[in-house]
Amino acid sequence: MVKAILAPSILLYDNCDLVGGVRIIESSGAQWIHVDVMDGHFVDNISFGPKLVADLRRCTDLFLDVHLMLTHPHQYLTRFIEAGADGITIHQEASCNVEDQLRLIRERGCLCGLAIKPETALNFELLKFVDIALIMGVQPGFGGQTFMPEACDKVLRLREFRDKNILQYKISVDGGIRENVGRNLIAAGADIIVTGSAFFSSPQDFCFCLN
Ligand code: DX5
Ligand code: ZN
Repeated sequence: MVKAILAPSILLYDNCDLVGGVRIIESSGAQWIHVDVMDGHFVDNISFGPKLVADLRRCTDLFLDVHLMLTHPHQYLTRFIEAGADGITIHQEASCNVEDQLRLIRERGCLCGLAIKPETALNFELLKFVDIALIMGVQPGFGGQTFMPEACDKVLRLREFRDKNILQYKISVDGGIRENVGRNLIAAGADIIVTGSAFFSSPQDFCFCLN
């Protein structure tokens, strides 16, 4: 029985060998690939664009889980959708009408996600419009950071709110997740585990998500 969806992030993987990274993800049994998109403004780093999503689309059938760390995600949504993203997550802190953009992502046939930074309080009103609620376990921008345990409380609250209001969103946690943290998050109610550096240093450690 699958306990959680495993979504390895390719952010820190050697950019000259991303196909190699994708093959490692596929052979681990993971179902999703997490693609971190950064604009150098919303976060202090720059990473991938729609071209990479289009290239990944041609080289794998895995679900492409695109995490937009952008100040103006609405300017780029169409490009990521047309590139072949399966899910697109935008940030609650973005400068746009978040509710409208979530709706647009869904209308275009993708799962829509809403992410929050560690210091941001959840906007529960928005949860009725989302397929994925993504809790950051680190400050967005860089892989390889240490998990902030407060994220676990947010997972518990998201699960409680979902049960009480009969909603369907999946709870995703992203950043700093090693094996023991991942196990605790699943016990707290996480449905999706996003992991980068810990996964690539030992993919077999994440088997616990899958059975
Ligand atoms: C951070 C990204 C994460 C992260 C995952 O801004 O959203 O996806 O890099 O990598 P690790 O597991 O190394 O924190
Ligand atoms: Zn991410």
